[in-house]
Amino acid sequence: MSMLKAIILAAGKGERMKSKVPKVLHKVMDKMMIDYVLKAAEQAGVSNNIVIVGHQSAMVKAKIGEKADRFVLQKEQLGTGHAVMQAEEYIEDNDKVLILCGDTPLIEANTLKEFVKWHNEKENAMTVLSVDMENPFGYGRIIRDGEGLLKIAEHKDCNEEELKVTEINTGVYVFNGKVLKDALKKIQNNNSQGEYYLTDTVEIIKSNKMGSTGVYKAKDSNEFMGINSKLQLSYANEIMKKRINEYHMQNGVTIEDPSSTYISADAVIAADTVIMPSTIIQGETEIGTDCIIGPNARINNCIIKDGVTIDSSTLLNSYVDNYTTVGPYAYIRPNSKIGEHVKIGDFVEIKNSSIDDGTKVSHLTYVGDSDVGKSVNFGCGTVTVNYDGKNKFRTKIGDNAFIGCNTNLVAPVVVNEGAFTAAGSTITDDVPAGSLSIARSKQINKIGWAETKNK
Ligand code: UD1
Ligand code: CA
Repeated sequence: MSMLKAIILAAGKGERMKSKVPKVLHKVMDKMMIDYVLKAAEQAGVSNNIVIVGHQSAMVKAKIGEKADRFVLQKEQLGTGHAVMQAEEYIEDNDKVLILCGDTPLIEANTLKEFVKWHNEKENAMTVLSVDMENPFGYGRIIRDGEGLLKIAEHKDCNEEELKVTEINTGVYVFNGKVLKDALKKIQNNNSQGEYYLTDTVEIIKSNKMGSTGVYKAKDSNEFMGINSKLQLSYANEIMKKRINEYHMQNGVTIEDPSSTYISADAVIAADTVIMPSTIIQGETEIGTDCIIGPNARINNCIIKDGVTIDSSTLLNSYVDNYTTVGPYAYIRPNSKIGEHVKIGDFVEIKNSSIDDGTKVSHLTYVGDSDVGKSVNFGCGTVTVNYDGKNKFRTKIGDNAFIGCNTNLVAPVVVNEGAFTAAGSTITDDVPAGSLSIARSKQINKIGWAETKNK
């Protein structure tokens, strides 16, 4: 059966990044460059991807993990043709093979889809994806023969006429499996860089009459920008940010200040939600309708339902249900589940806890490792004392309980339904339902004491 496979080149070091981190692992917004390429390939219909690794391969493999179907090691980086040769044994004769580079994060799935479709319709053996670049310096040039493709000339190997060509090789190709394997066997490294150029396959296919070659010209050169330096990384970031923000605005999300709003490519946001300035939405966050997010919010990998307000707060790996308000200045740490119509106010930290519907945690409170019922009221300055230096324990608070200001709840401990704790109490024993627990020393008034002291 014919299968669309992708080979993604990611063995290079990326010298110009001036970094100890391999190039393809550098991030655009909150995701590694290669993640965008892998996702675009998948969305374009690639069912099997092979990532060519080399420089710092262990780190690259660990970071990409299961997003790659297979890693193939290219021990020495002897050129793009040599890189593809390493994957030869995994290519079947009737596969279609899409070749991509790991350092082009702006590439779009739709472009790849159209490209592969065109290749198939033309019944080509090989098609190269080209684009017009205002400044083609450094790229391989598409040298045409009338309408057809004559060859791809590397910048360093170009003559004066060829250097004037602005149609460049994006480094994206689709090959029929058998032709690719046959052509790879014939590549040589007798060029200015002493490398095995994948681009030489064009002339090889033509001179050996292995099949027809073609060029598919894309419209947007931004998509093929290869990122080689931190400066180019910042350009890619800017383009990606704008592209994602525009997508959400087209879908009915209000973004008050797109220039200071950073939304992950994996986030989902419903219409009629308003994103206020300086907001960062990361990971696979989902946000419902009619929410007001920001200003100054960071939300990573959370599910936020409808009508939620989040002001100047950080939320990580958590769930927030309908019509709840968070902030300003709250910190919701991983594995928290906040119910409907809950109020999480200023300087409140919630960690690994569930807070049920209608509960108010209005100010200056730490709730960690706790299960809190419905309509509980936390007074200011409550602390769940969850850690004894070795182990963590849970606090349980029943529905309608009232926790007085400045209560310490020393876990493991249970405050049962409808119970009250007096302000300033340090609760170490369970509090029965409906009772009041006072756990503080009694007040003594020494009458006239100040006068005696001043004598
Ligand atoms: C290549 C193309 C050029 C094209 C350009 C588009 C060749 C000979 N030239 O040039 O026509 O315009 O891409 O960006 O193919 N890599 C490996 N192993 C290697 C060499 C490279 O994995 O041995 C990887 C790199 O990590 C990188 C990609 O292949 O992701 C492209 O390599 P690079 O050296 O940047 O190619 P260019 O010289 O830019
Ligand atoms: Ca090169």
